[in-house]
Amino acid sequence: MKGKFIVLEGIDGSGLSTQSVMLANRLRTSGRSVVLTKEPTTSIVGGLSKAALNGEWMTSPRAMQLLFCADRAHHLENTIEPAVSRGKIVICDRYLFSTLAYGYVSKVNYKWLRYINLNFRMPDLGILIDVPAKTSIYRLSGEEDNLQLFSDRERLTKVRQMYLHVAREFHLKVVDGDADAAIVSEKIGGIVDKFLAKN
Ligand SMILES: Nc1ncnc2c1ncn2[C@@H]1O[C@H](COP(=O)(O)OP(=O)(O)OP(=O)(O)O)[C@@H](O)[C@H]1O
Ligand SMILES: [Mg+2]
Repeated sequence: MKGKFIVLEGIDGSGLSTQSVMLANRLRTSGRSVVLTKEPTTSIVGGLSKAALNGEWMTSPRAMQLLFCADRAHHLENTIEPAVSRGKIVICDRYLFSTLAYGYVSKVNYKWLRYINLNFRMPDLGILIDVPAKTSIYRLSGEEDNLQLFSDRERLTKVRQMYLHVAREFHLKVVDGDADAAIVSEKIGGIVDKFLAKN
């Protein structure tokens, strides 16, 4: 069986980790061989980018996006491409569309972001889990809107808008993620089943 590369994208708290695991379980149950992976990775470069995200060290928005790309190159060459070649279904929690959406919102030039990602292979199937910022903030913090969370909500709203733009440009399937995890999983499973039946 031919390998496949499937990517899930969405804003923080959209349910990427939850849905990646549910999708992997669903495919494994149907007898497929799955590799579940994510970006940033556990490599040294991935660790550097996560530490920058957590504020453990400071760098510029552009340097940050280059780190994500370096991690991506390593990830593709060492994990994704070998697994796809061995006939696995690779499910990747975040990929280059995260660089495009988050990078743009951190004020990095969009053409340049596209350019530095141009050489990476496109997924065979890309899915955007779309949720309003309010939902993701509630899921992550357990709190309703308050002043302290307002800037997070504003930023995530911008990232969400950019993701919807990126989804049109790169033909990602958009799934409404503002529902019970089992319902979202059914929708994603349906899209993936249809895709696998055709490809
Ligand atoms: N459909 C859902 N409905 C309600 N809660 C959910 C749903 N999906 C996930 N959650 C909960 O929301 C939180 C965030 O989910 P998850 O970790 O899957 O999101 P994520 O997109 O991977 O977030 P992060 O950006 O932090 O990696 C978790 O506590 C999870 O249990
Ligand atoms: Mg996650």
